Amino acid sequence: MNEKQRLEGQQVQTANPSDKKSEKDYSKYFEAVYTPPSLKEAKKRGKEEVAYHKDFDIPQEFHGMGNGRKFYIRTYGCQMNEHDTEVMAGIFLGLGYEPTDTVEDANVILLNTCAIRENAENKVFGELGHLKHLKKEKPDLLLGVCGCMSQEESVVNKILKTYNQVDIIFGTHNIHRLPNILHEAYMSKEMVVEVWSKEGDVIENLPKVRQGNIKAWVNIMYGCDKFCTYCIVPYTRGKERSRRPEDIIQEVRQLAAQGYQEITLLGQNVNAYGKDFEDIQYGLGDLMDEIRKIDIPRIRFTTSHPRDFDDQLIEVLAKGGNLVEHIHLPVQSGSNEVLKIMARKYTREHYLELIRKIKAAVPGATFTTDIIVGYPNETDEQFEETLSLYREVGYEAAYTFIYSPREGTPAAKMQDNVPMEVKKERLQRLNALVNELSAEAMKKYQDQIVEVLVEGESKNNPDVLAGYTRKNKLVNFIGPKSAIGKMVKVKVTDAKTWSLNGEMIEELNAVEVE
Ligand code: SAH
Ligand code: SF4
Ligand code: F3S
Repeated sequence: MNEKQRLEGQQVQTANPSDKKSEKDYSKYFEAVYTPPSLKEAKKRGKEEVAYHKDFDIPQEFHGMGNGRKFYIRTYGCQMNEHDTEVMAGIFLGLGYEPTDTVEDANVILLNTCAIRENAENKVFGELGHLKHLKKEKPDLLLGVCGCMSQEESVVNKILKTYNQVDIIFGTHNIHRLPNILHEAYMSKEMVVEVWSKEGDVIENLPKVRQGNIKAWVNIMYGCDKFCTYCIVPYTRGKERSRRPEDIIQEVRQLAAQGYQEITLLGQNVNAYGKDFEDIQYGLGDLMDEIRKIDIPRIRFTTSHPRDFDDQLIEVLAKGGNLVEHIHLPVQSGSNEVLKIMARKYTREHYLELIRKIKAAVPGATFTTDIIVGYPNETDEQFEETLSLYREVGYEAAYTFIYSPREGTPAAKMQDNVPMEVKKERLQRLNALVNELSAEAMKKYQDQIVEVLVEGESKNNPDVLAGYTRKNKLVNFIGPKSAIGKMVKVKVTDAKTWSLNGEMIEELNAVEVE
């Protein structure tokens, strides 16, 4: 099927597991009417050109579909998913639905899922169990599963088999098809399943309802071609496809005009931005160099892959201004042997050299990272190398994880001689180090004045305001509500391990941008 057919003509596929009479009939039934997502298909990387669709619109026939109905989306996983939820919310509003904060009130509930680790998936299965009673009370409620888990055939099969409260399953490449999928779900009594295993498209003009009016996410690329041996993302998100620079720049300009104060450029491996362009030589450095000229106080990007972090980008970051000096640079392990088995395609030495270069070029640069402990057969010595690298870089924070096997990835087939007890112990030791260095980094702010973008009231105390510094430190402080959405100066009175407490000194005028 070509892109055009996929976008315009694709019939939504349905399956009705309740038709099954026996296990055997059930599988036969699926062969007849249902094509499951395929990780094998998703793994393929073709040379076909990326198709750009600039004219997304909600089809006329679906306008008003949501009148009198409410939607609720629960989001799991990374910023990519958070942003996809904003797009789906935009589509729902375009269809006439209203948002609601409670599942009991909703006529459509979507779980936008994450497949990165087993416990992420377990949470979703647990939630599907909790929501079952709502389906009984409200038979016309639609319950849907989307996001990365939907791209896994094992998950889709499990839902079809045991979670018949689910009405809709659709994948990460099918978000723009939400109107058609909902329509089909209303028309049919059967479970609606639409998961494409092959991507290819970049769709512009998707409507978005952003979660706030202070910070915004902007996708610069989709997918990942790195295939780290433990990771499911290249299968669930497809091949790397970059948005055209002019579309990104236009979106950031619009956000600046709307008063947004901070933009985070998003991609699974933003440093691969532009590598898929055949007509132009244009990378992340070029893009950042243009975006920094836009009148918006802070620009971040995530996530960086050390291998593709080039000198041109470092030169651009050195220009400072609205480009913040905090870089999230996942290292995963400090051991060359483990990095090799992970297929990260860099060495400890290469990584440390990169950090050295960035520190030299960008004054005050700080780093955070992601680390996996307990990789199959990781030895104590190899783990110690992770600890020593952590100290050597002097990270200010880290997301740390115990390795979780993901079906379909090469690492899942590896023999593993590390007992879970040992993995847990390593995680604890690593986390103790993470806390120690974070507390040390925070101490430096004691009695200092920091620049804070105020996001709102603190979660725990409405009398206190909360915001972040350029280096992404959470600051809780006393100040007037009128400061929300603004850039202010705060004097730090108490430095804790993970946050700073302080008092507001003054509001800053528009921050100057080159
Ligand atoms: N694209 C990003 C990572 C996205 S996933 C990058 O390459 O940096 C976020 C983090 O989850 C990863 O950095 C990794 O540390 C962790 N992770 C991914 N797969 C995992 C697995 N199978 N088990 C445990 N942690 C995993
Ligand atoms: Fe996963 Fe590696 Fe791609 Fe990150 S770069 S999304 S860890 S495969
Ligand atoms: Fe999870 Fe998918 Fe993001 S697997 S981490 S939601 S790309």
